[in-house]
Amino acid sequence: METTTLGTTGESVSELCLGAMYFGSRIDRDTSYELLDRYYDAGGRFIDTANIYATWVDGHETPESEPLLGEWLEERGVREEMTIATKVGFGYGDVPRSLDPEVISREVDRSLDRLGIDTVDLLYVHVDDPETPQVDTMRALDEVVTAGNVDYLGASNVPAWRVARANRISEERDWSRFECVQPRFSYLIPERNPEFDAAAQLPMTDELVDYCTEADLTVLPFSPTLGGCYGRDDRPIPESYVRTENGLKMEVVEELAERHDVDGNAIVLAWMLDREYPTVPIVGCSTPEQLEANLAASAVTFTDAERERLDGIENYGYSNWELR
Ligand SMILES: NC(=O)c1ccc[n+]([C@@H]2O[C@H](COP(=O)([O-])OP(=O)(O)OC[C@H]3O[C@@H](n4cnc5c(N)ncnc54)[C@H](OP(=O)(O)O)[C@@H]3O)[C@@H](O)[C@H]2O)c1
Repeated sequence: METTTLGTTGESVSELCLGAMYFGSRIDRDTSYELLDRYYDAGGRFIDTANIYATWVDGHETPESEPLLGEWLEERGVREEMTIATKVGFGYGDVPRSLDPEVISREVDRSLDRLGIDTVDLLYVHVDDPETPQVDTMRALDEVVTAGNVDYLGASNVPAWRVARANRISEERDWSRFECVQPRFSYLIPERNPEFDAAAQLPMTDELVDYCTEADLTVLPFSPTLGGCYGRDDRPIPESYVRTENGLKMEVVEELAERHDVDGNAIVLAWMLDREYPTVPIVGCSTPEQLEANLAASAVTFTDAERERLDGIENYGYSNWELR
């Protein structure tokens, strides 16, 4: 698997990051280990988790993903090779939804403890917090970096102008800045979706692309396959994505999947890898077969004509990245 550089850090990360959201909860321990082992064997070295994963699943009210990852890292003896990303900001148990300095400091300690590691390689704020002054949040984030508890910072579900503002605050004070963003993004573009808004899952926007391009931040799209809908008949495209142009896009995905002899989901992941600016999709899967199908994206190369087919269908209000 190829690598790309994370923001301006000079740090190499795998071009496909493995999402560990349901590891240890919906996905049992043996299967989670198998997914981790196979991803590792394929050359993958970049894993995404969060302090809250996945405390909303019935019967799993305490975090299970971080502890499972910690055990796997230790049992396999691969900690030094892996980039581990986790997140802070959403509420769970008695932890409030907040980016207050105390919450950040305490939750980073808890994540380190659950993961059984000394340093989080990449810490995201998981959601914006308009109640806490941004300067306080950025100071607290810089402090966990200075203390050696975190190496790099990222922002997930934060509007573009707030990411830019936070980075301006940090840059002016010589603090650590956000080096990447993690928005909800896929090949199909949705209508506005109140369900995602309520869950604070912010989609990619043109402004975010512009800012990341201008300031050299890496983009890590989450939920890139929309639940696998590009490659399976039992998973219709989500209702808010049912639009004329998305129907046309699905036809292109099907055609290219057949031509390249890969799953449609791999075509969409390959399309993300093909962006001009560093884009690292966070791959979700619950079976080894799905993982293999998705990892095949790394080997797909599009012709110029195929690129034109994929990028030629514009969604109203979006520029399809570098098509602007
Ligand atoms: N920052 C955030 O707010 C945020 C939010 C959500 C997720 N994330 C991160 O992003 C990662 C991925 O998110 P996600 O799980 O929502 O991603 P996704 O790509 O939308 O969905 C993954 C699911 O799609 C199905 N699937 C994927 N590839 C498939 C294939 N080749 N064939 C058939 N089915 C396939 C599987 O569903 P089944 O399991 O049902 O078979 C799989 O579990 C998470 O693990 C997490 O790390 C971050």
